[in-house]
Amino acid sequence: MKHLLSIADLTRSDLDELLDLAASFLSVTQRETPKVPALRGRTVVSLFFEDSTRTRLSFETAAKRLSADVMVFSVATSSVKKGEGLRDTVATIAAMGIDAVVVRHAAAGAPRRITEWIDASIVNAGDGRHQHPTQALLDAFTITQHRGRDLSGMRVAIVGDVRNSRVARSDVQALSMLGAEVTLVAPPTLLPETLEGWPCSSAVDLDPLLPDLDAVMLLRIQHERDASTRFPSLREYTARYGLTEARARRLRPDALIMHPGPMNRGVEIAAAVADGPQSVIGEQVTNGVAARMAVLWKLLGAGGDVV
Ligand code: NCD
Repeated sequence: MKHLLSIADLTRSDLDELLDLAASFLSVTQRETPKVPALRGRTVVSLFFEDSTRTRLSFETAAKRLSADVMVFSVATSSVKKGEGLRDTVATIAAMGIDAVVVRHAAAGAPRRITEWIDASIVNAGDGRHQHPTQALLDAFTITQHRGRDLSGMRVAIVGDVRNSRVARSDVQALSMLGAEVTLVAPPTLLPETLEGWPCSSAVDLDPLLPDLDAVMLLRIQHERDASTRFPSLREYTARYGLTEARARRLRPDALIMHPGPMNRGVEIAAAVADGPQSVIGEQVTNGVAARMAVLWKLLGAGGDVV
């Protein structure tokens, strides 16, 4: 495997291998010195054309814990501001001699285009509404840590601005590969126009599903992708779809509460629920580093020792 562009490119055995690797790297990150020499001498560039807190820091932490050199490309202070195009930008970076580029871009398909232009491994860190494969890996990893690898019959609801969500698209693919039954829940205007190609079902009402769920994942309303024009008001949205304390009480006591971040507390999830005992939101962030170590190691370190 040279690139990670989409969950759809993975076989079940690729996914299993990445989840196994993530488990090994999670134990590395829990050591007193959470670092291994696996990628010493390799250079990983992070190239984020869209805003990010978690994903960028998580990849950079992952690369450093594997002893890779990390080059951070800051779009806001680069020649992109002088009009340099994507192709010239990546060609310039590639000419410095690098091994992998972690890229986030507003255009779906941008990471795949980059694979045609340069020789380095490309990792998709989110492209438009299309894919966010490492988020799906860390979400699948988090659920399997609690429930084991076989998710057959497990019910997962993904609630919120699904239409705009690369997280939802990637998660549905990864979780269904592991056997879970995923339901997308949103007002009709925030659901994808068609479920063709999505191995899942959809629902407009959240309340009847709550008692049967094994996991519920809340998504932010993506105002920057025009979502707010698609429903009457945030107050009404929260009233029907927000995971309020009252709704959370209707979940099974062992149901997992998840959120990829960034959270809008009080909108899609109540603050007390995000911080409550069933929330695994912090674990998702911790697991994200291990999952990204797994990906970087699989792309750049194959053949070597994990630890
Ligand atoms: C998401 C993203 O950027 O796709 N965040 C993340 O990477 N954890 C979701 C979002 O922006 O709402």
